Amino acid sequence: MNEEQIRDEMKKIKRNPIPKRTEEEINLFVKDLMSKMTLKEKIGQLYQTTHDGAAITGPSYDASQNKRLINEGMIGSFLGLYDNMDIYRLQKEAVEHTRLGIPLFFANDIIHGCRTSFPHNLAMACSWDPQLIQQASEVVAYESSHSGINMTFSPMLDIVRDPRWGRVMESYGEDPYIGQLYARAYVNGYQQGDLTSYDSVSACAKHFIGYGQVEGGREYNTVDMSERVLRQFYLPPFEAAVEAGCEAVMTSFNVYDSVPSTANKFLLRTILKDGMNFSGFIISDYTSSSEIIAHKVAKDMKEVAKKCMEAGLDHEMVSNAYIKHLETLVNEGQVSEHLIDDSCGRILKFKYKIGLFDNPYKNVYLNFEDYWLTDDNRRLAKEVALNSVVLLKNDDVLPLKSKKIALIGPLAKSIQVIGPWGGKARDEDCISLYDGLKNKFKDGIEINYSLGVDYHEMDEAIYQEAIDSAKQSDVVVLAMGEQQWMSGEAQSRANIDVPPVQLKLLKDLRKLGKKIVFVLFTGRPLDLRVVEENSDAIINAWFLGNESGNALADILYGDFNPSGRLTMSFPYIVGQIPVYYNHLNTGRPYDPNDYYRSKYNDIPNDPLYSFGYGLSYTKFSYNSIQFSQDEEGVTVQFTITNEGEYDGADVPQVYIEAKSFSVSRPVNELKGYKKVFLKAGESKNISIKVKKKDFAYYNIEMKKEVENGEYLVKLARNSQDIILSTTIFFER
Ligand code: GLC
Repeated sequence: MNEEQIRDEMKKIKRNPIPKRTEEEINLFVKDLMSKMTLKEKIGQLYQTTHDGAAITGPSYDASQNKRLINEGMIGSFLGLYDNMDIYRLQKEAVEHTRLGIPLFFANDIIHGCRTSFPHNLAMACSWDPQLIQQASEVVAYESSHSGINMTFSPMLDIVRDPRWGRVMESYGEDPYIGQLYARAYVNGYQQGDLTSYDSVSACAKHFIGYGQVEGGREYNTVDMSERVLRQFYLPPFEAAVEAGCEAVMTSFNVYDSVPSTANKFLLRTILKDGMNFSGFIISDYTSSSEIIAHKVAKDMKEVAKKCMEAGLDHEMVSNAYIKHLETLVNEGQVSEHLIDDSCGRILKFKYKIGLFDNPYKNVYLNFEDYWLTDDNRRLAKEVALNSVVLLKNDDVLPLKSKKIALIGPLAKSIQVIGPWGGKARDEDCISLYDGLKNKFKDGIEINYSLGVDYHEMDEAIYQEAIDSAKQSDVVVLAMGEQQWMSGEAQSRANIDVPPVQLKLLKDLRKLGKKIVFVLFTGRPLDLRVVEENSDAIINAWFLGNESGNALADILYGDFNPSGRLTMSFPYIVGQIPVYYNHLNTGRPYDPNDYYRSKYNDIPNDPLYSFGYGLSYTKFSYNSIQFSQDEEGVTVQFTITNEGEYDGADVPQVYIEAKSFSVSRPVNELKGYKKVFLKAGESKNISIKVKKKDFAYYNIEMKKEVENGEYLVKLARNSQDIILSTTIFFER
């Protein structure tokens, strides 16, 4: 078919409502279809391939056999396609030119925006607003479902404690309580409780499991953790995603207990399929199945197929061990056909559930870009950007008063503010900080702009130009930090400093005696000691997406009061890593009056900025604090007042601490919070409840239980700034 014919057919795609079927109806359909399928065709459903030359996130791929494989029913799905004509062509091949006409499904990595670009996930996490993130996810789903795909490889649910790892930018941070809230928000935002809808996409929770704890923060490195740490910290977000109905889970590249996740029966069957009663399907990460050879747990692809199928892997991404070897393994009696039937059944059930048998072209639109980046979506992108920014320091310089500013740095006019994993977002749709200020004030602001330095290089003349522009201005605004591709997959860094040329310019500008506002662009926590010493204010701007410049202009001039709170600690220095708030006490906790204690001799134990930290342009006071306990749990009640002249939001947090337990427990565990917006001078009575069951922890028998004993309950501004705490007791 030529393009014209395809276009004509695509114009005729009908989008009739797709009936929602019961579990029984779905199972009947699948049972009937599978009874007609050959073993080879059932195995074909277990393979996800990609398009020509794709090197999305791993070895490049030769798609020359795709058409033949489709015609033989040997492909179940594709990843990485956006061109809807290609998607239409491939789907037509599957539906009209195979023996049983089983449709393909299509998946992509759309994790913080399709064409509308929201802040990356670690930035959005700092909003402490799951409802807002769910709204953003609904937009991501709408744009994705109108770009031909049925599933997004999101949410990424890795707990992260090491900013050397480039992928912290796509996580929500170091805390499982936050992780659970966000897992639900993303899954509900994507799936919207109706997989037959033309506006939803299916979610795929990843990476199962423990990828965020790669040793040394080095990408794809070894992971080694206890089962208790796995269950207590890394599992809860996945449990929340599965409870929310997430349709798929993706394995991780790393080992757990020296067995690659992708071939790890304990993880995939014992923990996930049986332990969580997970009825969706498990997909490998990009070639992670064949990589178990490199992990040295398989000698060849035939053994890969055997081990991964036995472990419970249902769908193999890009590697082709399954379609090459499973049929032989079954015929040799090495792999039971029941395992193939279970995996094939999960894939067919998914396809039927989302309506692909009713309408294989449900998400294929000829003019798909017309559905993207609407004005409403931009407005939401700005709201999310505003709420993602974290004010780290402000010595009476923000909000800015003067309209005669020097704007200096490699990110001042940069539109590269999407961050990694940007989907189909485009730099040209992004607002730079310079343009954001111009949009806001037009000619009402004098901006003495200078590049100053590039990310890593400097030119003497431009460097001097920056010094001169600062001299002519009332205040200096620096737009510095990482280039957006310095974080993301395969972007681990052993050094997390702000690039040296940028710090050199900061220090030289400091000598001028002008007030300096440092606007930090970064995908990860960095070592900010030099920035802290030489700046009067620090705004953590992450990478905020389309509306970056407009949001930052509002924040710089006080039209929005920053309310972001960190969900990942900023280490004092890279040598302090891993540093996270919910750490154990040790047997010799730090005591300044005792030499033989757990400490460094050259730096403090505490991070530079801790979990839950963030400043505001206003001051919030807490009064009438009361703790009460009943059989259901503990409630903290208090009055919060905005004592300043700016409206704004604070995020009172409630932590618990077990005084003793059958195993050592963290010194702090976040168990509740509220984001409270108050007008200047306004007060509100707030209560935050922590249910008794939330005090549970995996005990010495590896059972999640609340043990008798004494617990501290703490009302706090952040994990280090405790306002008031009380002791409570649980008796059996
Ligand atoms: C990558 C990533 C994973 C992504 C997949 C498909 O290597 O680890 O997050 O979904 O491949 O692109």
